[in-house]
Amino acid sequence: MKINFFSPNFSFKSTNRSYQSQFGENIGCNSWMFRNDIDWRELAKYEAKHFHDKDKVNIVMFAASDGSEAYTKIISLYENFGERKEKEAEKFFPITAYDVDKEILKAANSGLIKTCLSDRLELQMKCDNYEKYFEYTGSKLEILNDAEMQSEKVLKAKDILTKNVKFSYGDMFYKIHELKDESNTILMCRNILGYFCNYTIQNFIESASNVLKTGSLFAVGEHDSILMNIKYFMGKNGFKNVLKNVYQKI
Ligand SMILES: C[S@@+](CC[C@H](N)C(=O)[O-])C[C@H]1O[C@@H](n2cnc3c(N)ncnc32)[C@H](O)[C@@H]1O
Repeated sequence: MKINFFSPNFSFKSTNRSYQSQFGENIGCNSWMFRNDIDWRELAKYEAKHFHDKDKVNIVMFAASDGSEAYTKIISLYENFGERKEKEAEKFFPITAYDVDKEILKAANSGLIKTCLSDRLELQMKCDNYEKYFEYTGSKLEILNDAEMQSEKVLKAKDILTKNVKFSYGDMFYKIHELKDESNTILMCRNILGYFCNYTIQNFIESASNVLKTGSLFAVGEHDSILMNIKYFMGKNGFKNVLKNVYQKI
């Protein structure tokens, strides 16, 4: 069969699933490891320095999708601290990760992840030894309404990844109000705000501003910042831009 790389049924993402929300929005679950709208290495370096006096840092991840983002975060923190200082990375774990799509949560909780050739190359470039984090499997990962992938290989996340993240059902518009912060939170809410109207986005940023204390971080994605003036709303709600798509509560 001839492969058409530009077909919507063909993807370079670890998932390209989309579905209709209960309010009729078309939501995409698209995600992949080391998504390049953040400089993961710089962010890990910044976090290590910025939170050096904290014994515990809480990473709360909304819109976690298939686990690509949580695995990227864990790997980049471990790689930043290196083998000799692995224990220091562990104050950032476990990541509390939420999504509202039960189909994608099933994939995240399986510990399996789809990769294409470029993902596997990226992993080799980003890690000293990526076999520390993943093993090859002959398994298939079935995700409803997902697209086919070129040179797909399903990897299984090793214990070093799965023990450091907990995926559960949670709606960010409710969960945001439950967040307890002691200036030691990294809120990751990436590539989801852009699916909603400006009013909803402003309300969410306002809620985040109410719960986050000085010094805590709030990361968004390119899909959010490209569609609206995120910088302006962040500034209005007491956040300053510290790295690409990363804000800090003043
Ligand atoms: C485009 S993906 C983003 C994945 C990942 N954050 C990234 O940047 O690669 C958006 C995800 O947000 C989830 N989502 C949609 N509405 C949500 C809500 N109200 N609370 C939590 N997650 C939600 C979707 O199910 C989907 O998996």
